[in-house]
Amino acid sequence: MTISDQDIVYWVDLAFIAAACFAFLLTLPRRFIRFSTPLERNVSIKLLKGSPPIERPAEDTSSSSPVDSVTSTIPTDDGRGGLYRRSAAAASPTKRHRGFLLEAASRVRSCLQSFTLFSVTSEKTAGRLVFIFLYIVAIVAACFAHTDPFAKPNRLGFVVASQIPIAVALSTKTSIVTLLTSKGYEKLNFLHRCVGITIFVVANFHFLGHIYGFALTGTLHKKLKQPFVIWGIFTLIGIYALFLSSLPFVRRRSYSLFRAFHFIGIVLVLVCVNFHRHQTRKFIAVAAGLYGADLILRFTLRQKITKAYLYAVPELGMTRVEIPSIRGGWRAGQHIRLRVLTGMGPTMWFETHPFSIVSVSSDNHLNNNELGDGLVLMCKRVGGWTERLYALASSARSEEKAVCVRVSLDGPYGGLADVVLTNYTAALLVAGGSGITFSLGLVEDMVQKASRFQTNLRIIHLVWIVKNHTNYRALAAEFESLNARCIASGYSLRFKVSIFCTRESITSVSSTQENAPILREENDGSKFKMVDTGRPDLPAILDTIANDAAVKQWRNGISVCVCGPVELAHKVRESVRKLRTRSQVGGVYLHEETFGW
Ligand SMILES: Cc1cc2nc3c(=O)[nH]c(=O)nc-3n(C[C@H](O)[C@H](O)[C@H](O)COP(=O)(O)OP(=O)(O)OC[C@H]3O[C@@H](n4cnc5c(N)ncnc54)[C@H](O)[C@@H]3O)c2cc1C
Ligand SMILES: NC(=O)c1ccc[n+]([C@@H]2O[C@H](COP(=O)([O-])OP(=O)(O)OC[C@H]3O[C@@H](n4cnc5c(N)ncnc54)[C@H](OP(=O)(O)O)[C@@H]3O)[C@@H](O)[C@H]2O)c1
Repeated sequence: MTISDQDIVYWVDLAFIAAACFAFLLTLPRRFIRFSTPLERNVSIKLLKGSPPIERPAEDTSSSSPVDSVTSTIPTDDGRGGLYRRSAAAASPTKRHRGFLLEAASRVRSCLQSFTLFSVTSEKTAGRLVFIFLYIVAIVAACFAHTDPFAKPNRLGFVVASQIPIAVALSTKTSIVTLLTSKGYEKLNFLHRCVGITIFVVANFHFLGHIYGFALTGTLHKKLKQPFVIWGIFTLIGIYALFLSSLPFVRRRSYSLFRAFHFIGIVLVLVCVNFHRHQTRKFIAVAAGLYGADLILRFTLRQKITKAYLYAVPELGMTRVEIPSIRGGWRAGQHIRLRVLTGMGPTMWFETHPFSIVSVSSDNHLNNNELGDGLVLMCKRVGGWTERLYALASSARSEEKAVCVRVSLDGPYGGLADVVLTNYTAALLVAGGSGITFSLGLVEDMVQKASRFQTNLRIIHLVWIVKNHTNYRALAAEFESLNARCIASGYSLRFKVSIFCTRESITSVSSTQENAPILREENDGSKFKMVDTGRPDLPAILDTIANDAAVKQWRNGISVCVCGPVELAHKVRESVRKLRTRSQVGGVYLHEETFGW
């Protein structure tokens, strides 16, 4: 029996689908635990609108005529740098246990972590490399099975076509792979890039193999005029556009250029492959279907156009974006993609940028009135777009006034998937610079749940690494408020925050003591804040938490979440990997939220 090229690549794709289904089975214990936890059941696939309880004094740029709609506002308890205005929640205790499935899963993970968390580079772990290796083995097998691809390069063309739907499935915001594996598009991005590079390499071999063959038979000139060859060359141009535009150099220099060329490249490839070889049409149909379904879902379900209020927060170099009409539909740790439709000038309104949601969704509040500011984002000024946003926010005529703009929100995406942080006994959150947005969203959520006794948590330790103490001062009141709420909850949950100022001397930090309540930690633990200079000793911090947990026989595990520069995530990962008491404390769950993609 002869096996056709199409059959081979078809079976390889089926193997990938089977792997995704297997990954789905592995997620079942976590899904089960999450959906049996009352406050974690919201599916968080679309943002929910609700009537905002308050209007803000604002300068409106959402209509053509600038209007000042000045009305009364509820005073903040934490200043503009803080998160939101709120009232305390009443609650009854409903303490839960972690469940045997999660216990078993965390034991297996603990054993594997010494290997899977091993960092080959600061971005690549041994765990990820295993996936990449298996993928490459499957592709090499598809290229070489029952043929010599150098003598007959057609097989390589089919391999390229068969991988296009895989690349699309791994990149779309709402994809079937995300649904099956519970991994957000940003976490699957390393595989998407691996598939992309494979397509690029194999397509080049396919092209060169044919050119060489045509040259040997003396038909090169004639063949280059044939339509199917011309369509093939256009496909290759599309693949080059995709590959070159996504090089880290280009992506970091100009994200807009990367996105524009990616769009042109994908359209070119999908159209031209069709005309190049009609046998590839079923792969292209699947890819176009996945891409189209994602676009339709995003525009019909996940896109919201509404008013937003912008405040400049100079201490943090950030713009605080309040969207009071969006009340819920997200989970802590998720992000949305923001587009500002008015006031940003003719070139920037079409750009979308991802930002972590800092506020807690109304699904986690006892009643909707507790949530004063709705969805809140904090956007650090780092480049063209965020600088423009900050300048727009700063154009408000007084500090209390916000600038009102129209925005489009796309999301929510990403986050911790099915992980329930409140099922662990301790949480260590490490934030570098603007990574605090992600960590604060998680802490707010955990404290909120503690006030409803929906937690197993005993300690939340937030480590924030900033360049200078002025960053810290902007959120000092927020930390005080979180601590006060932990105490008021009546639940034995301790909140601890350690600030590390990396670009300042200890004298300049302590000299500000009068202005900001910077406190060194006392031995009796009565102070919840600690401010120090230099970079933190992260392994020692984690060790202390783990030893404490082991002594007190807390066996529900520790969750560690890091958000910030890639090198910081690498440090945290190494600390978790080297922790000797991992299994004694019921395992360590690690979540990395970095920008290394
Ligand atoms: C999931 C996620 C959540 C984030 N959450 C926050 C947050 O809560 N607060 C915060 O201050 N920052 C956050 N960021 C970073 C923020 O998105 C970028 O700083 C911002 O997009 C930079 O845009 P710019 O044009 O001002 O800067 P540029 O100078 O153009 O870009 C600076 C860097 O941001 C990258 N970048 C630019 N545009 C995008 C984009 N549309 N998508 C992804 N990366 C881009 C570029 O590659 C470059 O490396 C988050 C990033 C990600 C990936
Ligand atoms: N959800 C998300 O994915 C999300 C959300 C928000 C932000 N982000 C990303 O987070 C990053 C933060 O950037 P930023 O400009 O806001 O930060 P920043 O101002 O540069 O501050 C980063 C801080 O982290 C410290 N740091 C860096 N590497 C470290 C390491 N290995 N160990 C200990 N400390 C370390 C730095 O110390 P030094 O001064 O010694 O260098 C600095 O104090 C950006 O890449 C941003 O895009 C991601």
